Amino acid sequence: MNRVKTGVPGLDELIEGGFPEGSSILASGGPGVGKSILSLEYLYNGAKIYNEPGIYITLEEGPQNIWWNMQRFKWDLLSLEKDNLMKILKFEPSADFSENLESETKRIVEKAREMGAKRMVIDSVTALSFWLDSTAKIRYAIYVLIEELRKLNCTTILTSETTGRKNDLSRYGVEEFLVDGVIDLYFIPPHHFIYVRKMRGTNNSTTIHPVTINDNGLSVNYKEEILWEALKD
Ligand SMILES: Nc1ncnc2c1ncn2[C@@H]1O[C@H](COP(=O)(O)OP(=O)(O)O)[C@@H](O)[C@H]1O
Ligand SMILES: [Mg+2]
Repeated sequence: MNRVKTGVPGLDELIEGGFPEGSSILASGGPGVGKSILSLEYLYNGAKIYNEPGIYITLEEGPQNIWWNMQRFKWDLLSLEKDNLMKILKFEPSADFSENLESETKRIVEKAREMGAKRMVIDSVTALSFWLDSTAKIRYAIYVLIEELRKLNCTTILTSETTGRKNDLSRYGVEEFLVDGVIDLYFIPPHHFIYVRKMRGTNNSTTIHPVTINDNGLSVNYKEEILWEALKD
């Protein structure tokens, strides 16, 4: 199996070298746990280190805001923009999203196809789901998304906003069953943590590891472990 290296320090060590190529990975957790930073770093490394084009679809914040936030990190963003290796786009669902589920969902994937993206981020599928009026539709939209991205062989992080409790994996209780991998992020002030809950075809780490977020971005202290009991219920 081909592995797509995240390049996030310490993360690839937990998952046998990277995400399975073409897979969809859910990055799940409460507000402020580092979902967006992890996702941006995955695309940044893809472009900067591995020369793979990546696209970031935002459903909440504007692209300008995200570029501006990234200036905070000691990353070389100008070269990425210049070479068009990283795009940030805001997806505005149409008013009849719920009626045109399949075509609207494919419209997202079309953005990845247009730029030949090998990596994609959708931040967040929770926001996408706000436009849909039933769990069945949410499930179907995410299913279509994942299958289309798989056909493109595009390896994707979908973020999912939860309450942050340790057994709460997603907002609708459907996302985690559709994806190939689930990464849980936690924040217990002042510490951040990561747990790889599942990763298809991978003998992944089964313990919780501390995470550091600073001006270099996010990194995983993969040699350190903490107890499950240390997380709040
Ligand atoms: N430069 C930085 N130095 C230290 N911590 C940071 C820095 N930038 C962001 N953070 C931490 O990361 C958190 C935000 O991460 P973010 O990826 O936006 O969360 P999420 O998308 O899960 O809501 C902040 O709440 C803060 O704790
Ligand atoms: Mg976020």
